[in-house]
Amino acid sequence: MQFKNLLPVALAAAASAQSITDALAANNATLSTLTTLLGSQPAIVAALSSASNITILAPSNAAFAKAMNSTAGMAAAAAAMPDVIAALLQYHVINGTYPASAFTRTPAFVPTLLQNSSYTNVTGGQRVEGYVNGSSVVIVSGALAKSMVVTPDVKFNGGVIHVIDTVLNFPISDSKTAVAAGLTSLASALTSAKLVDTVDNLKDVTIFAPSNNAFGAIGSALPNLTTSQLTSILTYHVVQGTVGYSSLLRNTTLKTVNGGNVSITVEGGNVFVNSARVIIPDVLVSNGVVHVIDNVLNPNNTAVSVVPTATAPATVAYSGASSASATFSGAMTTQAASSGSGMASASRAAAAPAIATGAIGMGALFGGAAVLMANS
Ligand SMILES: *[C@@H]1O[C@H](CO)[C@@H](O)[C@H](O)[C@H]1NC(C)=O
Ligand SMILES: *[C@@H]1O[C@H](CO)[C@@H](O)[C@H](O)[C@H]1NC(C)=O
Ligand SMILES: *[C@@H]1O[C@H](CO)[C@@H](O)[C@H](O)[C@H]1NC(C)=O
Ligand SMILES: *[C@@H]1O[C@H](CO)[C@@H](O)[C@H](O)[C@H]1NC(C)=O
Ligand SMILES: *[C@@H]1O[C@H](CO)[C@@H](O)[C@H](O)[C@H]1NC(C)=O
Ligand SMILES: *[C@@H]1O[C@H](CO)[C@@H](O)[C@H](O)[C@H]1NC(C)=O
Ligand SMILES: *[C@@H]1O[C@H](CO)[C@@H](O)[C@H](O)[C@H]1NC(C)=O
Ligand SMILES: *[C@@H]1O[C@H](CO)[C@@H](O)[C@H](O)[C@H]1NC(C)=O
Ligand SMILES: *[C@@H]1O[C@H](CO)[C@@H](O)[C@H](O)[C@H]1NC(C)=O
Ligand SMILES: *[C@@H]1O[C@H](CO)[C@@H](O)[C@H](O)[C@H]1NC(C)=O
Ligand SMILES: *[C@@H]1O[C@H](CO)[C@@H](O)[C@H](O)[C@H]1NC(C)=O
Repeated sequence: MQFKNLLPVALAAAASAQSITDALAANNATLSTLTTLLGSQPAIVAALSSASNITILAPSNAAFAKAMNSTAGMAAAAAAMPDVIAALLQYHVINGTYPASAFTRTPAFVPTLLQNSSYTNVTGGQRVEGYVNGSSVVIVSGALAKSMVVTPDVKFNGGVIHVIDTVLNFPISDSKTAVAAGLTSLASALTSAKLVDTVDNLKDVTIFAPSNNAFGAIGSALPNLTTSQLTSILTYHVVQGTVGYSSLLRNTTLKTVNGGNVSITVEGGNVFVNSARVIIPDVLVSNGVVHVIDNVLNPNNTAVSVVPTATAPATVAYSGASSASATFSGAMTTQAASSGSGMASASRAAAAPAIATGAIGMGALFGGAAVLMANS
């Protein structure tokens, strides 16, 4: 189906400035797959055609081919899952005009038109992260997937289009992110405390997710915890009502779901929560953001001891605890948690492949949707 045929109004109105249709047609050599996909989404097309002040992140034909292996595969997916395609396209449209020059080296977390609560519980629309690296703009989406802007600033009368080399990933749920990221100890702890659904269904969260090494460092204390203590500890890692993307965090206290406060300290380019250091910031999830930290927080020990060097050992918040395999009391049976290195790396670049494990092709593109479908 030709996109043009669906846009008589937009075409008629596009007398002076280039319409979105014209802009896409002028770039048909790189954007024909996107144009074809839009052809199957008349409601999205109508919304985009009348929108002003938007930024379209337009995956190139090569990006779609990479995601779906073939254009034919894309067409089949579009036919099979029109709702998912609609949501995916909404996630590729930023609310606001952001030419390449609007991005800086400091990450910006900008809202998209994806607001459907089947896919996101971030108020104002699910975010993408954008920043400048060298001479290119990088867009980061779910599971730390990076898309490079390959052709910036194609202007049209509703805003601007950036052609990107990789289709964006939907941010998925907290629990699925923990599993995908190899945060096996945290995933086990949440399961053990029966907190998976509770946490996944919160709105607008900031989650401080201890690495496997963090759980390992207090391993001796874990088997002795009651379920209520484990619940108290885990909910102390969750802030609701504030989505604290790293570039927005300042020295402050934040109230956790547990009821107690955590102290945020920003020093020397590092972010600390109480005495724990953020080692992987800004993993976008369906209901907010996750920061991986190097220590398990203790609601009964809110001391702040900040050691802003990457090599310094983490300050353990559990007195008397020693290193051991991380296991949990109560429901923990078959889920012996790994104390392996997991996400201990301080480098996001190193973390990304771990997070993206298994996320290729259809899986990456529809990660969030596959979860939704499995649950419904
Ligand atoms: C755009 O490219 C596609 C695929 O190459 C082609 O089938 C289509 O006719 C082109 N459309 C226009 C308007 O040039
Ligand atoms: C898609 O591409 C991936 C990576 O190149 C490959 O492993 C996979 O077999 C391909 N799938 C299909 C259906 O071609
Ligand atoms: C939200 O997404 C669901 C699931 O894909 C879909 O059925 C529904 O129509 C969408 N709602 C809106 C308002 O687009
Ligand atoms: C864009 O954001 C503004 C607030 O900044 C909001 O009022 C508006 O509804 C949003 N537009 C869309 C299409 O979501
Ligand atoms: C464009 O959208 C952004 C983000 O919603 C808003 O801050 C800005 O005021 C809007 N500009 C215009 C001209 O509407
Ligand atoms: C958003 O929260 C509602 C409950 O308020 C839940 O039903 C829905 O599944 C959540 N959406 C996502 C994407 O997790
Ligand atoms: C910036 O670009 C360089 C060179 O391509 C790459 O090695 C590095 O990982 C990029 N950094 C970020 C934060 O994207
Ligand atoms: C856990 O409980 C065992 C048995 O009650 C006790 O020997 C051990 O010292 C406790 N460990 C910690 C860290 O409290
Ligand atoms: C915190 O201290 C209180 C009072 O001593 C105790 O009841 C509770 O179990 C402790 N919580 C944790 C997670 O250790
Ligand atoms: C935040 O707190 C740290 C530690 O107290 C301090 O070094 C730093 O200057 C503070 N930052 C700001 C912006 O006040
Ligand atoms: C949490 O911090 C707020 C603001 O600083 C303060 O008003 C409140 O009393 C604190 N709550 C606890 C439980 O310490």
